[in-house]
Amino acid sequence: MHEPLWQAFDFGRGDLQSKNSTFMGPVTLATAEPDGRLNDWIVEWYRARAKGGVGSIIGAAAAVHASGFGWANAMTIHTDDHIDGWKRSVDAAHAEGVLFGTQLYHGGAASHDALLGHQPWCPSAWKRDGFDPAREMTVEEIELVIDAFAYGARRSIQAGCDFVELHGAHGYLLHQFWRRDVNHREDKWGEPTLFATEVIKAVRAAVGERVPIVYRFSIHSDDPGATDEPVSPESLSVYLKALEDAGVDVWDISCWRESRRGYFGTTTLLPEWVRQASNLPRIVAGNFLEPAGAAEYCESGYAEGIALARGLISDAAWCERAQVGDAYRPYQDSDLHELRAGRDPGV
Ligand SMILES: Cc1cc2nc3c(=O)[nH]c(=O)nc-3n(C[C@H](O)[C@H](O)[C@H](O)COP(=O)(O)O)c2cc1C
Repeated sequence: MHEPLWQAFDFGRGDLQSKNSTFMGPVTLATAEPDGRLNDWIVEWYRARAKGGVGSIIGAAAAVHASGFGWANAMTIHTDDHIDGWKRSVDAAHAEGVLFGTQLYHGGAASHDALLGHQPWCPSAWKRDGFDPAREMTVEEIELVIDAFAYGARRSIQAGCDFVELHGAHGYLLHQFWRRDVNHREDKWGEPTLFATEVIKAVRAAVGERVPIVYRFSIHSDDPGATDEPVSPESLSVYLKALEDAGVDVWDISCWRESRRGYFGTTTLLPEWVRQASNLPRIVAGNFLEPAGAAEYCESGYAEGIALARGLISDAAWCERAQVGDAYRPYQDSDLHELRAGRDPGV
């Protein structure tokens, strides 16, 4: 059943294909060790999703540098000591024939002095709602973070990852550089595509020519009701073309929970706008909680891959059950409370 979901997904580089077109989207947990290392709880969390039939797993946002931490007890990849936990998760996925990639991330202004031991960093001084005021980064700090993304990518390959994803969405550092209402720099880093393209080039140099780079982006930070301004179809097209030229292979389009709404004052969906700018394969995330809708979205030509977060939180075997038409355990809001309390609601 729901055939479009079970076709192989082609990453468009290095002959990499996953067994089907479903992805476990990145899900940050608060169950890692205090220093960000992955533990048995997390390895089993990924193993359960791999056993449950998903095609590829995208790991939780993993800070590449200590200046980019966003949450206590979140997974990170900022030192070599962190490789082993990721490797155990990748091995668990591979044992089930499932691909695995890390999501490399820097929170930028979305953090707190107490967590970092210093003021959060941002392209320009900015206070994001709910976080502490961030200060403008120096040029040396920008270069340091670009290097840190490359180290994070190299560690991912050492852990056995099949691909890496860059977290350019949801108002974190990569997104902050793109946003013209946040990045007011007057040096060359004020150019909205430059930071992302330099990160992509550094990551490409680190992972080599055969490993796909997936790039997650969103138009909004964290408010689904926000206006699409300041992005326009033209500025989106310029951004995507620059990133594709720099080395991106696959888009991971985060629509929050709004993958069926039109963007930029039209009825045209965000992945359709993306297709006008780029022919790369598209993974789309946003409210695919039942298989018929997800399959229909692919069949309509809006996505080549579907990223599932809440569906797979609530039922680790969502994919396996969906494929044969068995009942799956539907998502409920209380599952997120369970997760925050350190219990896996999906097994
Ligand atoms: C608990 C939780 C943690 C998340 N963590 C991340 C993350 O680390 N990185 C990211 O890009 N998105 C993250 N997201 C967003 C999801 O990957 C996904 O894009 C979003 O939940 C919409 O998909 P869904 O409707 O299938 O849940 C998270 C979502 C949830 C519910």
